[in-house]
Amino acid sequence: MAENLQEQLFEWFQWFHRRPEPSGAEHGTTARIKELLRETGIRVIDTGLETGLVARIDGSAEGPVVALRCDIDALPIQEDSGLPYASENAGYMHACGHDFHLTAMLGAALLLNKRRGEIKGTVKLVFQCAEENGGGAKQVLETGVLEDVREIYGLHVESSRAPGVISISAGPVNAAVGGFRALIKGKGGHASAPHECIDPVSAAGQLIVAAQTIVSRSTDPFDKVVLSITHVEAGNTWNVIPQEALLEGTIRTLGTEQFKTVAEQLGRICRGVDEIAGTVTEYNWLCGGPSVDNNAVLADFAAKTAESLGLTVMPAVPGMGGEDFALYQERIPGLFFTVGVGSPQAVHHPGFRADPAPLHTAAEFLAELGIRSLVRPV
Ligand code: NI
Repeated sequence: MAENLQEQLFEWFQWFHRRPEPSGAEHGTTARIKELLRETGIRVIDTGLETGLVARIDGSAEGPVVALRCDIDALPIQEDSGLPYASENAGYMHACGHDFHLTAMLGAALLLNKRRGEIKGTVKLVFQCAEENGGGAKQVLETGVLEDVREIYGLHVESSRAPGVISISAGPVNAAVGGFRALIKGKGGHASAPHECIDPVSAAGQLIVAAQTIVSRSTDPFDKVVLSITHVEAGNTWNVIPQEALLEGTIRTLGTEQFKTVAEQLGRICRGVDEIAGTVTEYNWLCGGPSVDNNAVLADFAAKTAESLGLTVMPAVPGMGGEDFALYQERIPGLFFTVGVGSPQAVHHPGFRADPAPLHTAAEFLAELGIRSLVRPV
């Protein structure tokens, strides 16, 4: 069974790897997933989602509802992996392993469908669109399709771990991420008369330097915090003090509470610089999302389930990347785990290469989580 399943999954994986599609435009991917599910007799729920889908597998008995989630979108990266089944869509690549995730979910769907007799309730399978730009989880939640879900499990590949190693930890495992914008408004004029102007450029300089003290002076040394100013813009010639200066950047913290502290401190620094320089700074958020924060009970349950299947379980490798699985966890207890795929390059690199060997392992683990979580004592 495992060998046949692996063969089937590898074939599907290659199909999806060749056809990466960007966030929100996963039309071919969605159509193919629908087709494969329908061939198996699995029901796709009518959610009105344009891309991505939610399927359901009802068991032999009434019971709770749990969900398994994967993502399906790719990145605007030109692939340079050397794989025989490399991307055929120029400029796009499955460089974050979402093709692995969705193929493993299709495998789980097959297994769950075969084991309907053991399912005491309902398993919903979420094939989520647009993870990379952060819009997909919100879209799925807004359909209301997960309102009856008691708990949710999601997977991601881990490039640095050996193929098949499952990594699970309770607590935050991915960063809370925010992109900010500070528009510093001054008063422009002749560069020879700074006293008649309010210079937004020197204010921007002070803000850039002071912002660095948030990580070095205002946060707990044991907290993981990144603050980067990534975009600076002001003026266009040498003899004019400009009206405005623009700064953009990112804050990333492991844990949502830490994020709030850093964001507030940055706001205080903006106001402090305004006080000194006489500028008026508009400080706001371009985007953002909370930290993936794993439920401790589910982490323990999932680790024990993996061990009972003979899998190697290790603590999670925390990362400062964002992941919109966190949005589900704001409403539903959830667990996000990783599967090792032993890649020579990390995700989001043109040379990223997920070892397909653990596809069936990931599928079997997902199916087992679905079945056992329904009868888990709560
Ligand atoms: Ni990803």
